[in-house]
Amino acid sequence: MASPLRFDGRVVLVTGAGGGLGRAYALAFAERGASVVVNDLGGDFRGVGKGSSAADKVVEEIRSKGGKAVANYDSVEAGEKVVKTALDAFGRIDVVVNNAGILRDGSFARISDEDWDIIHRVHLRGSFQVTRAAWDHMKKQKFGRIIMTSSASGIYGNFGQANYSAAKLGLLGLSNTIALEGKKSNIHCNTIAPTAGSRMTQTVMPEDLLETLKPDYVAPLVLWLCHESCEENGGLFEVGGGWIGKLRWERSLGAIVRQKNQPMTPEGVKANWKKICDFENATKPQRIQESVGSIIGVISKIDSDGGVSTNHTSHAASTAPSGFAGAIGYKFPPFSSAYTELETIMYALGVGASVKEPKDMKFIYEGSSDFSCLPTFGVIIAQRPLVRGGLGEVPDLPVSLEKVLHGEQYLELYKPLPRSGNLKCEAVIADVLDKGSGLVILMDVYSYFEKELICYNQFSVFLVGSGGIGGKRTSDKVKEAVAVPNRPPDAVLTDVTSLNQAALYRLSGDWNPLHIDPNFSSFAGFDKPILHGLCTFGFSARHVLQKFADNDVSRFKAIKVRFSKPVYPGQTIKTEMWKEGNRIHFQTKIHETGDIVISNAYVDLVPASGISAKTSSAREELQSTLVFEEIGRRLGDIGREVVKKVDAVFEWHITKGGDTAAKWTIDLKNGSGKVYQGPAVGSADTTFTLSDEDFMEVVLGKLDPQKAFFSGRLKARGNILLSQKLQMILKDYAKL
Ligand code: NAI
Repeated sequence: MASPLRFDGRVVLVTGAGGGLGRAYALAFAERGASVVVNDLGGDFRGVGKGSSAADKVVEEIRSKGGKAVANYDSVEAGEKVVKTALDAFGRIDVVVNNAGILRDGSFARISDEDWDIIHRVHLRGSFQVTRAAWDHMKKQKFGRIIMTSSASGIYGNFGQANYSAAKLGLLGLSNTIALEGKKSNIHCNTIAPTAGSRMTQTVMPEDLLETLKPDYVAPLVLWLCHESCEENGGLFEVGGGWIGKLRWERSLGAIVRQKNQPMTPEGVKANWKKICDFENATKPQRIQESVGSIIGVISKIDSDGGVSTNHTSHAASTAPSGFAGAIGYKFPPFSSAYTELETIMYALGVGASVKEPKDMKFIYEGSSDFSCLPTFGVIIAQRPLVRGGLGEVPDLPVSLEKVLHGEQYLELYKPLPRSGNLKCEAVIADVLDKGSGLVILMDVYSYFEKELICYNQFSVFLVGSGGIGGKRTSDKVKEAVAVPNRPPDAVLTDVTSLNQAALYRLSGDWNPLHIDPNFSSFAGFDKPILHGLCTFGFSARHVLQKFADNDVSRFKAIKVRFSKPVYPGQTIKTEMWKEGNRIHFQTKIHETGDIVISNAYVDLVPASGISAKTSSAREELQSTLVFEEIGRRLGDIGREVVKKVDAVFEWHITKGGDTAAKWTIDLKNGSGKVYQGPAVGSADTTFTLSDEDFMEVVLGKLDPQKAFFSGRLKARGNILLSQKLQMILKDYAKL
């Protein structure tokens, strides 16, 4: 059996504990070891009169059973005095159960000012006064549990109880905010809406029902919510007769009824009313950010150039189970990323490169003979559509862009990044996956330097709360994360981040206030501003490069990470690494807590022996380079015609001395065809691997490609039959 929930050493204040529900709570807490303050004004159920006997009787009952209790006879409106009794008698205050209450029922039109005011004073103001008096003590001791008592009348409304309903739902609002403000001090606040037989309900409930709805059937929930092991915070529960249920908000997907540069009209609202009130595919927002976030998402959609269809029904229909037709394949407007050595250095400092480490000088001093740009700067070049809110422009993504999380990141470099430059980037939504709890958006970004593809990024972004509408769950486009080996790491490197780490890193382009503004971060539910996930990513990649590639950026090929938890500036980043061939698996932890912050990650390195073939001088020696360049030139004239005939993309891996020395793509599928260095943008229909020498033999007609294939000199992947078509061009070349 689970160990009993005890309250030894805890001091619990229950208001209105002289009878009904409050008495049941007080007895239950005392029975489990708590010291209890039994507060009760002792008036009638309308709040008339006062007396000490109600509280005294309950104190007596507790003491007679060997428990610890003192009485307090003040009204909850005098919160300071009530809490002082706890401090005087027991020296602390751990739990406040705001329970005291009265009724002044009457139909709405007949509610007097007095009946309105007294209900608000006792329920709402009284709970505020008592809780405020306890607050600083709870904050100091970093522990507190608070209960607000609402009512079904407040949640749903009830005839004859307008004053009471208003005050009772006011308590939920109070609780919601206290829950947020108290969280970081381990002060939790929850709200209950009980149903129980008491003097308050005896006038409205039949006697046998009163009997069965015992206050004892409510008390266990209150005790659990007030226990130190209970993590629940900001919840609302209906409870009675032995049943407990939790309530939450649900919001329809809604409709956008405004168009760019057009007035918003009541007719537009009327036309969309069904949709506005349609709870199919509804979301369940939990935090104000989700509410504000979706409205901001709508505004950016409306203000984006494309505008927004007033007919949201059709928009939503395309997000239905058949998929996110308009989103997948959506191309963002191309953009350029220009940077100088200043940005290169600022990034390196942002991810922890330091003058303390002599080998880091090449990343932070432009005068170093081998000055280099860190490979992971490749994500900075490509991140613009994300950091500038571009996702809001993507058609057919659900409008309510709730909480956006950076889930995973893949980066591949085809050659080292220049120390400064202006890169052209093309971003596309490669796929959208519906994981139920949210949507995963795969955004691929291709970056070119002087027309040559230099790096490829895949950002995997999680839209919390937007899923569950029946889209596919997996995609062949995903660059998969890989579990780390099940053995102790081969190497571990640590770096203490500075308190200014996020402040420094953000200068590289991610200006989200979450990483610097304490108000903003606490609003988002964090104790303080958090480090950027991509900053931790930069630290870890640096560790791998330092440990396994001697900081040689030309050996960096690719990196994949999964973000699992945030890091706070000042914490120590610890990268655990495992070498398996040219792949370095790693995971990143916070040294102080042991929490894994990056999981299932790896860096692929170019083998040390392959480097010489990768250098530009070696590349220039490749004879095939001339051929590819020539094919590219010739396509200029006859491209369209050839594309019509061939309709395929071919990728070439040209080897030299056994290592891949160059990759080329001949695209005879799109536009008027294109030849470029690097792997295919998107995917290739066929990939060939052969040596530079054999390639020349083939194009000069000296080697039959089929023979080369069967003898293993030419390797082909994908649709091999298509190679027949390719021969047309190569043969042509041979005729030259
Ligand atoms: P109850 O009338 O038996 O208990 C309320 C207690 O609060 C009384 O002992 C009363 O003397 C005390 N009290 C009233 N004004 C006070 C003040 N200004 N300062 C200190 N003590 C004061 O009623 P019951 O049913 O136990 O209600 C407890 C709480 O649960 C109330 O807040 C009530 O509104 C709420 N509630 C009860 C429901 C039920 O089915 N019993 C339904 C929904 C809410």
